[in-house]
Amino acid sequence: MGAAANPALAAGGATAVPRHVGIIMDGNGRWAAARGLPRALGHKAGAEAARRAIEAAAEAGIGWLTLFAFSSENWRRPPDEVQDLTLLMRHYLNTEVARLVREGVRLRVIGERERFGPELVRAIERAEAATASGTRLNLNVALSYGGRAEIASAAREIARRVAAGELDADAVDERMFGGFLGTAGMPDPDLIIRTSGEQRISNFLLWQAAYAEFVFQDVLWPDYGAAHLADAVTEFSRRDRRFGARAA
Ligand code: IPE
Ligand code: IPE
Ligand code: MG
Repeated sequence: MGAAANPALAAGGATAVPRHVGIIMDGNGRWAAARGLPRALGHKAGAEAARRAIEAAAEAGIGWLTLFAFSSENWRRPPDEVQDLTLLMRHYLNTEVARLVREGVRLRVIGERERFGPELVRAIERAEAATASGTRLNLNVALSYGGRAEIASAAREIARRVAAGELDADAVDERMFGGFLGTAGMPDPDLIIRTSGEQRISNFLLWQAAYAEFVFQDVLWPDYGAAHLADAVTEFSRRDRRFGARAA
């Protein structure tokens, strides 16, 4: 069904639509610099590209989309850039909610949202509540997110419960551990896309990406559109995923 809605896939005859796609949305700063614009305008154009990607993912029949919008390490950026990004995220959360509801998108934020302060936290909570009944696309936005911080936090919580006698240490296995992550109950990403030409994971979904396919696209994030996503999905559909088993 999803594949049929995607012309690129229909043309190629391929049908493997990834269930969960993660995107490392990179290159806003370079996009702005190439135009002699302030970085803030690159981030604004990046937010527009995120909106296009959300629509395209829903159209393509992708069930889960996780967008990496701000990493734990992005706090190292100058305070004015962090401030620009915080205001931009609040603006988009508030203005996009109605559209997300209309399109059947359920929004969740993973990461340490509290670090952005109460106003953004309130905007996130409102958007999550308003979109809670969406079933067409599950959208995760990773904010102040880092895979290592997430894993450490899960380990801390498990240790606390074991110390309190609420949990048996021997019962801790991969499945249970995954239930303590921000992505508890969600499928692992099948496809991880990174734009801008960089080929690294930058602390995104470290645990969850164990068997993800990676596609690196040489396009700056603000220029990203439905055709780029269709290309990445087509590339994904050509991959032979073995999960450690012997090749067929
Ligand atoms: C991605 O664009 C957005 C964030 C990390 C917040 P960048 O701001 O990293 O853009 P480049 O990599 O400097 O071009
Ligand atoms: C990764 O991009 C984080 C996001 C896209 C939100 P960065 O631009 O922060 O990554 P590095 O620093 O180049 O690895
Ligand atoms: Mg970058």
